Amino acid sequence: MPVVSAPGKMILLGEHAVVFGKPAIAIGIDMRMTCTVVEAGQNMVNGHPLDDRYHSYLATAIKEYWVGEPLDITLESDIPSGSGLGSSAALVVSLLGAMAVMRGGIDEEAIAKAAFDVESTVQGRASPLDTSTSAHGQGVFIDSVPGDQLLWHVEKDSRQWYVHHCAVPDLTFVVGFTGIRAPTGPLVAKVKRFFDRTRFARDIIDEIGTITEDGAKCLQNRDTVSLGELMTRDHNLLTILGVSSPELQRLVDASMPYSYGAKLTGAGGGGSMIALTDNPEKVAEVISRRGGIPYVVRTDVDGVREE
Ligand code: MEV
Repeated sequence: MPVVSAPGKMILLGEHAVVFGKPAIAIGIDMRMTCTVVEAGQNMVNGHPLDDRYHSYLATAIKEYWVGEPLDITLESDIPSGSGLGSSAALVVSLLGAMAVMRGGIDEEAIAKAAFDVESTVQGRASPLDTSTSAHGQGVFIDSVPGDQLLWHVEKDSRQWYVHHCAVPDLTFVVGFTGIRAPTGPLVAKVKRFFDRTRFARDIIDEIGTITEDGAKCLQNRDTVSLGELMTRDHNLLTILGVSSPELQRLVDASMPYSYGAKLTGAGGGGSMIALTDNPEKVAEVISRRGGIPYVVRTDVDGVREE
């Protein structure tokens, strides 16, 4: 009976712009989804029959990638769903991982690519950032050109992404979950409409791409001060794109006096923010005081793995 887990993630820089083929950086975090699978007479999830509408990610993964008896799936998660911390990617990656174990073994690249395919089908439009980070763990840097640490290359429509390993520096991040669950698909669609209609939005997406490239250099050089400034600039651009929310802004504003930088992370519209800080207790305290749920996250975690 395979038991496979996969991590959630936080996006350091580049969300939304990465959907248009721009660079992005994401880091796996110590919140995991654990999936146990056994063949059964009927597809089941946590003791209930699988419903295609409510379990669209699982249903799509089974339909597209499983040949065999129906599956009885048991899920245990530390990742709040709709929190912007990669719960759907970890769900798909852990299930595909469990299926892979039943058929011979885990291949990170094959799982990352299949999970991206499932996420794109369900979400409507996506990048491979969340699914590749959950499959690989540690850190992932997506670039528009191949570099030294290339893991794999992904293409869809006319877009392409070169997915790289990114060494995770020893930095402290506090995540603040607003408690508001925001589905990714409509936010990605909203940015696409803005992008298609205005030059202004296209310039913002380009600017986020430039910020992310600069941020990758700061990470390499461990330049925390500049990295924090870039995170805050990225947040301001995401706000102009219309994907922040008053609750996110409140947590970002509260964290700023004790942080190098702070920004929303993931699709936005609710979900979570992150702060880069060397005073995590204080940042966690102000996040709670403003109604958020703080997590001081550990990084440098494994990707998809058999338990
Ligand atoms: C969501 O975690 C990140 C987005 O960039 C969407 C995606 O990359 O698929 C908003």
